Amino acid sequence: TSEKPWGGRFSEPTDAFVERFTASVGFDQRLYHHDIRGSIAHATMLAEVGVLTAGERDQILEGLEAVRADIESGAFQWSVSLEDVHMNIEARLTDRIGITGKKLHTGRSRNDQVATDIRLYLRDEIDAIAEELTRLRSGLLTLAEREADTIMPGFTHLQTAQPVTFGHHLLAWAEMLERDAERLQDCRKRVNVMPLGAAALAGTTYPIDRTITAKLLGFDRPSENSLDSVSDRDFAIEFCSFAALLMTHLSRFSEELVLWTSAQFDFIDLPDRFCTGSSIMPQKKNPDVPELVRGKTGRVNGHLISLLTLMKSQPLAYNKDNQEDKEPLFDTVDTVKGCLRAYADMVPAITPRADNMREAARRGFSTATDLADYLVKKGVAFRDAHEIVGKAVAFGVAEKKDLSEMTLDELRQFSDTIGADVFDVLTLEGSVQARNHLGGTAPEQVRSAVVRARKRLG
Ligand code: ARG
Repeated sequence: TSEKPWGGRFSEPTDAFVERFTASVGFDQRLYHHDIRGSIAHATMLAEVGVLTAGERDQILEGLEAVRADIESGAFQWSVSLEDVHMNIEARLTDRIGITGKKLHTGRSRNDQVATDIRLYLRDEIDAIAEELTRLRSGLLTLAEREADTIMPGFTHLQTAQPVTFGHHLLAWAEMLERDAERLQDCRKRVNVMPLGAAALAGTTYPIDRTITAKLLGFDRPSENSLDSVSDRDFAIEFCSFAALLMTHLSRFSEELVLWTSAQFDFIDLPDRFCTGSSIMPQKKNPDVPELVRGKTGRVNGHLISLLTLMKSQPLAYNKDNQEDKEPLFDTVDTVKGCLRAYADMVPAITPRADNMREAARRGFSTATDLADYLVKKGVAFRDAHEIVGKAVAFGVAEKKDLSEMTLDELRQFSDTIGADVFDVLTLEGSVQARNHLGGTAPEQVRSAVVRARKRLG
């Protein structure tokens, strides 16, 4: 029974099933790099304050590097009876360097150790995710700039509303992602606080210097309260809520891409390399990447709820419940990284079918508001103008004619205020160009919005 690092007070071995049931090494071994990094900093600090000798520290550091090499070569044997990544690494260190290995855990507990490991891990992943997010945003801006003049129907209620530029539509996506990127950086601030030194829950009797460890590990500062330090998982919840919102945005883009690649819309083409076929229907080219991204939103939303529920009734301080934080967090990280990578690769390769987009905008009476605005500028009250244009649209529906295809005489049936200059506002180009103010859809505005967004992207 004393094979367990905590076996001293136990009089019988752990039940074999309970051993497997309580172990986390199957999934937390992915923290090995950060666990070793944390241990190196801890041992360095212990030597600095005189708890370890310089010789002991060097032995520990060398031993930890050897363990790392073992893990990375695949030679390391992970043991379920050693429960988790922390005790596996510590036991292996002691096997290699003997008694000195047993001194590493001085002034530390697995409770502050695991909280530190997850924060180090998440900080790295946040930085990797931020990079992918930047790559996606920059691809979107390039595409938006290229498509600043491309006209498509804008929708409300998924019914044709007014013409917009495709570039403007893409910039709406870019705005959502910019907010996501800001949220991620805000979350990072609270991830980057060091719990190490809280020990089990109350702190430690050794003369530790937490500012040394925090500095070595690149944390902004040590945490303030030891009880909170070992029990706080807010940072993981915040990350998952960032992720759920990001996935919600990606899912909305996905929905549009799926619609737009359908024969019914036929607004865009996705390259074959991002699509797959059907085993039975030879003609099929399916937009699997957007569909899968849309689908994966479900698991990420689920992980957020898992973590909130995990934490909602925990008394202070550490509880074994917290071991359940890892799988949802890891899967969220993996899913978000995968989705962002696929999107960052795919978005620049979207090719619009400009003719179809234009035709769809033309067919849907999308310049009806422009006609109403034209009448208002000639002195008609807006409500009356609305009524006049409504009648003209009804005529167009019956005659299968867009407003721009009617003759002047046909239009004048509804109001004799209408003059020959009306055709300037009934064209799609006229319509988008007229919305030429900050935030509007005019090509000129799209181009300047891209410049500003690039500046913010850095
Ligand atoms: N595997 C544990 C976790 O993931 C590490 C901390 C265990 N601490 C304890 N007192 N049992 O949370």
